[in-house]
Amino acid sequence: MERKWWHSSVVYQIYPRSFKDSNGDGIGDIQGIIEKLDYLKDLGIDVIWLSPVYKSPNDDNGYDISDYYDIMDEFGTMEDMDILLSESKKRGIKILMDLVVNHTSDEHKWFIEAKKSKDNEYRDYYIWRKPVNGKEPNELISTFSGSAWEYDEASGEYYLHLFSKKQPDLNWENEKVREEVWKMMNFWIDKGIGGFRMDVIDLVGKVPDEMIKENGPMLHNYLQEMNKNSFGKHDLLTVGETWGATPEVAKLYSNPNRNELSMVFQFEHISLDKIPGKNKWDLKPLDLRDLKRVFSKWQTELEGEGWNSLFWNNHDLPRIVSRWGNDKEYRVESAKMLATLLHGLKGTPYIYQGEEIGMTNIKFDTIEEYNDIEIRNMYKDRIARGFKHEEIMESIYAKGRDNARTPMQWSEEENAGFTTGKPWLTINENYKDINVERALKDKNSIFYHYKKLIELRKENEVIIYGDYTLIDPDDKDIYAYTRELNGDKILVVCNFYSENIEFNYKDIVNKEPNILLSNYSNSSTNINKLKLRPYEAIMFRL
Ligand code: NOJ
Repeated sequence: MERKWWHSSVVYQIYPRSFKDSNGDGIGDIQGIIEKLDYLKDLGIDVIWLSPVYKSPNDDNGYDISDYYDIMDEFGTMEDMDILLSESKKRGIKILMDLVVNHTSDEHKWFIEAKKSKDNEYRDYYIWRKPVNGKEPNELISTFSGSAWEYDEASGEYYLHLFSKKQPDLNWENEKVREEVWKMMNFWIDKGIGGFRMDVIDLVGKVPDEMIKENGPMLHNYLQEMNKNSFGKHDLLTVGETWGATPEVAKLYSNPNRNELSMVFQFEHISLDKIPGKNKWDLKPLDLRDLKRVFSKWQTELEGEGWNSLFWNNHDLPRIVSRWGNDKEYRVESAKMLATLLHGLKGTPYIYQGEEIGMTNIKFDTIEEYNDIEIRNMYKDRIARGFKHEEIMESIYAKGRDNARTPMQWSEEENAGFTTGKPWLTINENYKDINVERALKDKNSIFYHYKKLIELRKENEVIIYGDYTLIDPDDKDIYAYTRELNGDKILVVCNFYSENIEFNYKDIVNKEPNILLSNYSNSSTNINKLKLRPYEAIMFRL
């Protein structure tokens, strides 16, 4: 495969609302991000994925856009955005914009027009259907609970919203809609951005009348058309959010010969703690063997025909250290172990803000303290269906999106140094222990472990391009694999639990291996009989 700059890049995701507030209104903003660019440079990342900063009434915190050509008031101005682009560029950091074009806000001028009458020129920008027997056209469900159809009194028709009713779905079958999207993308490309993260992009080919949401028949045609009319002429990174992707489907998106996207986010490893066939709130215990199976499948099946993205976290997911790690006595060890495992794999790693200091999940006592529309709607829906409050709260503690959205913990000052005002979402009370200032002072912190992993990637081609082989798929406690390129071989061994355990590497190794990185001091190099401590993770060069 032809080599690309983004094969060796590491991306850092910023959720601007929670990153850094510069003006004391309790909400993170663009100037706040600019203040922290040197911190990100120090970490060593190459690209920032910026969650939406466009004008928005914030029904879904910016994923409901009312103007793609303007900036949300709370976050600043277009001038701030231009400064962010130029200041990032000075530091060799590119900016990925979040492209949210499956839907707009209901406050977008297109929808305001569309609602005016059935013959309005924007009516067909959205998806309208007549009632069937006086009811919703069909059983399509919104991700945020309830029907995906909302009745519009004035016209007597329903419009489709796969998310909140303030996020009407755009009609991609309408060529004019697609042209508006390409035009807007080109506006941002001309500003010098590094690419796009594409929100729920696998929904744009939907066929609502046949109940098809993901992977509709026209999806890949649309993406090829998008590529041709916008970023295809430039050397950009594009990553699609595709909950419905299998490796087969991912190859359609990311095989360079097809001129679609650089890569996609697949979510198979993220769905291992949900009961199959149910939704994300219905929990099942994790089994390491499942994680090994899923990661290994993706590592090997895309070989030569596509490219992986590697991530544990984003603004929709619980904190990884609270999920696969141990956020109590082994927080530091387990956060480093999870980082080592992921950053040793093949693909482009993504770090979500706060992951690099091991931020943890949050537990609020009352539902009122939660902000997220998905949580609030689900709570109402489940209470109405007879679930117990306690049971619902357990699901929220495990999977709620606000776990990832509590403000970034910068220091032990009031409000964790995030704001001088009242934070828009309660700050995790552990901020006095877990914060950036502390991490930077401690050479053994999680932060420096991430920094080292990024350096290792830059210095070792085998980490970028080496072949992946899983060791012992049936071991339920240890995840071990090798990477190999032109005779250079790396072995990564991770103990996933808090018990001591022995790992036995069976291949013959001629010389004593080097330790490239470990999360303990004095790790052993006796790989044929390796005694691992709780959550111990070692990367060897064989
Ligand atoms: C996926 C985004 O990541 C999420 O935060 C948002 O709510 C939905 N798409 C709808 O835009």
